[in-house]
Amino acid sequence: MSDQPAACRIHVEALGVAFEPQAEHWAERLGLPLQVADGEFALQVGDMGLQLQQLGPDAPGPVRVDFVEGGAAHRRLYGGGSGQMIAKAVGVAQGVRPRVLDATAGLGKDAFVLASLGCEMSLIERQPLIGALLEDGLARGAEDFDVAPIVARMRLLNGNSIEVMRNWEGEPPQVIYLDPMFPHREKTALVKKEMRLFRPLVGDDPDAPALLEAALALASHRVVVKRPRKAPCIEGPKPSHALDGKSSRYDIYPKKALKP
Ligand SMILES: C[S@@+](CC[C@H](N)C(=O)[O-])C[C@H]1O[C@@H](n2cnc3c(N)ncnc32)[C@H](O)[C@@H]1O
Repeated sequence: MSDQPAACRIHVEALGVAFEPQAEHWAERLGLPLQVADGEFALQVGDMGLQLQQLGPDAPGPVRVDFVEGGAAHRRLYGGGSGQMIAKAVGVAQGVRPRVLDATAGLGKDAFVLASLGCEMSLIERQPLIGALLEDGLARGAEDFDVAPIVARMRLLNGNSIEVMRNWEGEPPQVIYLDPMFPHREKTALVKKEMRLFRPLVGDDPDAPALLEAALALASHRVVVKRPRKAPCIEGPKPSHALDGKSSRYDIYPKKALKP
């Protein structure tokens, strides 16, 4: 849990001379050094955009946000549309496309699914490094003909959602979606590469109960919490019901019916 770049040794690296100005820009913005000898992670700038690479012999490949190709594109085209569990959980239905605040944006995958279905999304991410990857992915998405209209529905804010929600001004979001980190101990392929990379950077989000409390105070219609299928609910008020997926569960805290 941190609002600051984590205590890991991270540096910024240009993958070619042409990318040096961008590397300097990110280093300055994130308060990170440029190219050091004994780093644990490198935030690399290259022709594929911004990517985070763990360093060392057993490190997995780089992680970047890509809404145009790969998993996100596949899910957008063949992922089941409004029949997907996450869509049902936030209340997407015929004539209903709620305004959603994703208060734990991460790499923006869930938010992208909902934006693809037509939801207006606000996203908040507190880890500046993850926020930087997301910002870069959104910028590249905005240059793609098919993806641009989707990312235009995704507004990224940086900061701690608990504070942002407590001090919210203007119309509140209809639905608030939370997917805080949950402590996984197993080291199998099931724990995705992104998650293995995230954990040392982000921690386990132990302040999830405060996040839930702030979300319940702000959302006008419902709060949805994504959990691993067998995990306990976030401590605090209990959800009224849950939708079970293959590996995830969506706990639903309703406040008011969403109407077309
Ligand atoms: C499990 S990941 C979310 C993954 C995301 N649903 C996706 O589809 O990519 C959790 C993220 O929430 C962020 N987070 C947790 N608590 C937060 C808070 N209070 N404010 C902002 N971001 C928070 C963490 O930094 C982490 O990046």
